[in-house]
Amino acid sequence: MAIGSRIEEIRKEVTELAQSARTANELMQSMVKLLHERVLKYNWVGFYMLEPGAPPMLALGAFQGAMTPHTRIPLNEGICGAAASTGQTVVVDDVSKDPRYLACSLETRSEIVVPIFAHGKVVGELDIDSHFPAAFTSEDQDFVQHCAILVGKRLEAPFA
Ligand code: SME
Repeated sequence: MAIGSRIEEIRKEVTELAQSARTANELMQSMVKLLHERVLKYNWVGFYMLEPGAPPMLALGAFQGAMTPHTRIPLNEGICGAAASTGQTVVVDDVSKDPRYLACSLETRSEIVVPIFAHGKVVGELDIDSHFPAAFTSEDQDFVQHCAILVGKRLEAPFA
């Protein structure tokens, strides 16, 4: 089966999860599990949620993969901080060459971080690490952005 159709298939499953999840938390838990299990190059999949405060922090939420030392990240640190503070997706093909990178596992070679918006504001992000260099193609970027939009919509829904 071609890679493209596989991502298409998983995209459908993720969309079904979003329809059946009772809460945003339930959706995030099931989404990290599905992505981690089904896409071999997604070796760590997790959410960081924005905690308002002085200073605001990104707090680790649902995740699958090895435990990370970075459970709370300020907005001016890491690839995670860069994505949340700019509201832009960040793709890093070689984490060893990016001075912003905060190491989570020695095996990580590339990373994508996609911000999650609710009511027009960044409320968190979806972070995926890969043991493979340059793992995140434009197709992956499109797919992970779709996942982030589903979570943002669920967070906007009443009783999320
Ligand atoms: N690498 C991230 C930190 C989170 S861990 O990857 C799980 C960063 O540079 O912000």
